Parts: sequence; C-alpha cells; structure tokens
Amino acid sequence: MSDVLELVDVSVVRDGRALVDDVSWSVKEGERWIILGPNGAGKTTLLNIASSYLFPSRGSARILGEQLGGVGTDVFDLRPRIGMAGIAMAEKLPKRQTVLQTVLTAAYGMTATWHEDYDAVDEERARAFLDRLGMTEYLDRNFGTLSEGERKRTLIARAMMTDPELLLLDEPAAGLDLGGREDLVRRLGRLARDPYAPSMIMVTHHVEEIAPGFTHVLMIRQGKVLAAGPMETELTSRNLSRCFGLPLVVEHVGDRYTAQGLPLK
Ligand SMILES: Nc1ncnc2c1ncn2[C@@H]1O[C@H](COP(=O)(O)OP(=O)(O)O)[C@@H](O)[C@H]1O
Ligand SMILES: [Mg+2]
Repeated sequence: MSDVLELVDVSVVRDGRALVDDVSWSVKEGERWIILGPNGAGKTTLLNIASSYLFPSRGSARILGEQLGGVGTDVFDLRPRIGMAGIAMAEKLPKRQTVLQTVLTAAYGMTATWHEDYDAVDEERARAFLDRLGMTEYLDRNFGTLSEGERKRTLIARAMMTDPELLLLDEPAAGLDLGGREDLVRRLGRLARDPYAPSMIMVTHHVEEIAPGFTHVLMIRQGKVLAAGPMETELTSRNLSRCFGLPLVVEHVGDRYTAQGLPLK
C-alpha cells in the first residue's frame, strides 16, 4: 500500500520553540487516523503540514507521493487532492453565499463565487454530498446563518467536493451539542467505513468523538509523538493519561470510546 503521508523527523520551529518536535509518522492508503492531544499540542500545525500549507522547518514531508518543498512538486497541483475542513476555512468563506454555492466553489479551488454557470455535474455532486451530510433542507440558506453543526456539515461536504485522496478534519465536533455531536459521529462513521472514501485524518481532544471505522491513533503532547498505531493497541488508559497529563481511564463500550479521570483521593 502506498503512503498517503510520510513525515520523517519533522519539526516546526517558531520563535525558537518547536511547535512540532521531531515527528515521524506515516499514513497508508485507506487508513483513518485520529490525532489526540491537549490544547496547544501541535495538532493543527500537523494538519497544516499535511494539507501542504505549512512547510516544516526541519525534516521531510511527503504528501500523496509528492515531496513538500521538493524539486518538481507544485503545491498548487497537490492542494486540490486534499480536502480540509476546519475553523480557518470557515472564516475564509463568504457569509452571504448559500450553502449550495459554498460547496460548489470548492470545485474551482476558490472561496467565493464569481460566475453562475457551474457545470451541472458539479452541482449534482454538491447536492449529493450535502444530502449525505443531512443538509438537503438548507441548500438556499446563507452560510453565515447556519448553526455550528450545520456549518460543520457544510464544510465537510465542501471538503469532499474535489474528490480528495486525503480528507483532513480539524475538531469537526467542537462546539456541537450532544445531538449534533452524535449525528456527526454517525455520519463520519459511515464515511470512515466506506471503502471508496478517501484516507482520513481527524483531530479531536475527546475520545467520545471517535467514530467507528477509524483505525489508527496518533497522540501528541508538546509537539512530540507519544503513541502512534492501531486504535486497539494504542488507545489505552496509560497512553491517554500520559498524553493529557493526568490519570485517565479509557473504556471501549460497543464500538465507541469514553474516558474519565480517576476520582481524587
Ligand atoms: N504561527 C505561529 N507562531 C508561533 N506560535 C504558534 C503559531 N501557530 C501556533 N502556535 C503555537 O503552537 C502551539 C501549537 O498550536 P496548534 O498546532 O494550533 O495546537 P493544537 O491544534 O494542538 O491546539 C501553540 O502553543 C500555539 O500557540
Ligand atoms: Mg487546533
């Protein structure tokens, strides 16, 4: 199986501090990874590398077979092959564009509409992705008027639009209420188990948000990798406790996970 992402000894240094510190990590085709770690651990920084928007200060990053910063690698060819849904993207999108337009513009690699004659095929695809994410009733609503959950689902549909080989989700369930979270986890689970869906990397700090179908976990703390590998072997109480810096117990209940701190003595 080919590598979707291969980081070797990657560091990102800002103001003399390593935000990502000597990370080696590889993601193979078809794998679905969760990145877990406390606030400020470097999760978003790692995703920014994986999306080819940030170049490492040191080390080597290969994305979809292309060497980042390498001779012959054009990030403008690479970027459409990667779907990214995160807060940074939401902020770039015009609030007064409809949901359908918001998703459609992704097909053309831009954030705003500038013409109306989109391909009928593209519109069909946009509608289909929005439907899969339960957004059919909101096609004509302005993006700026959506609830947090509706916005998150629109962004995921948007990220799917270019038919990416790699899908990156940065805290997709953050800010959702319980119903919204469970709905999203269910939809992400369906996507994660779809053999035709792209390779996926999802950032979260809650094990409750791990949808069934995710196969691997990377845990980071202060920019360093603490654990990386199959979910069954790596998502343990011991690893999670080290990752978050306090005693935690992880439980596998059905096909979901929960974690809680040990009571104080
Ligand atoms: N451009 C930057 N310059 C300096 N520090 C940054 C920059 N971007 C992020 N940081 C810092 O790097 C650390 C990791 O950030 P981030 O990757 O966003 O963490 P996470 O997503 O895990 O919460 C944080 O301490 C953050 O304040
Ligand atoms: Mg972050």
